[in-house]
Amino acid sequence: MSDKKYVTKILFSEKEIEKKIKELALWVDETYGESQNLILISILKGSIPFLAQLIKSVKTNHEIDFMAISTYRGGQKSSGNIKIVMDLANDISGKDVLIVEDIVDSGLSLNKVKENLKRRNPNSIKILTLLDKKEGRKNDFEVDKYGFIAPNEFLIGFGLDVKEKLRNLPYIGIFNKDFFDKI
Ligand code: IMP
Ligand code: MG
Repeated sequence: MSDKKYVTKILFSEKEIEKKIKELALWVDETYGESQNLILISILKGSIPFLAQLIKSVKTNHEIDFMAISTYRGGQKSSGNIKIVMDLANDISGKDVLIVEDIVDSGLSLNKVKENLKRRNPNSIKILTLLDKKEGRKNDFEVDKYGFIAPNEFLIGFGLDVKEKLRNLPYIGIFNKDFFDKI
């Protein structure tokens, strides 16, 4: 059986994701074309495929850096308490920071990340997320740009995981919970 058994429905195909990311790269260039100090910050690990594909189409000169956070979760839900597991290698003071995320759900973790990065005196700070699960929001956190609106379901693929697996699926789909104990 193919890897499609893990999803009850494919929401965004590989082709649709590819097309959307090209549009998002144009947004980056329009937003930061004049910047000499752009740094894209990827929150590990879910945003890796997104970042990798995005930067191939971004023309504006930029650096990339990574940050890993762990969220204390009750089940699959975010609690909003984060711990920085791996910090940035670069100083971001005076830089134009663009946080690149896979998905924003409650908004609690990214809100904490944004507050933390603001204290390091960047010139500006914005958020780009491939998916925005707006219905999941528990605060008034807003992203600056999103690729797709996502339904309030548990999604997998293109970086999104269940129990650290299935990030490798080239499409994004709704997780088939029958497989929760089998992966
Ligand atoms: P929140 O916005 O603080 O609730 O947490 C967002 C993070 O939770 C994302 O960066 C993902 O790592 C994870 N997450 C949220 N929704 C999903 C999903 O549907 N599938 C996989 N991971 C998710
Ligand atoms: Mg994430």
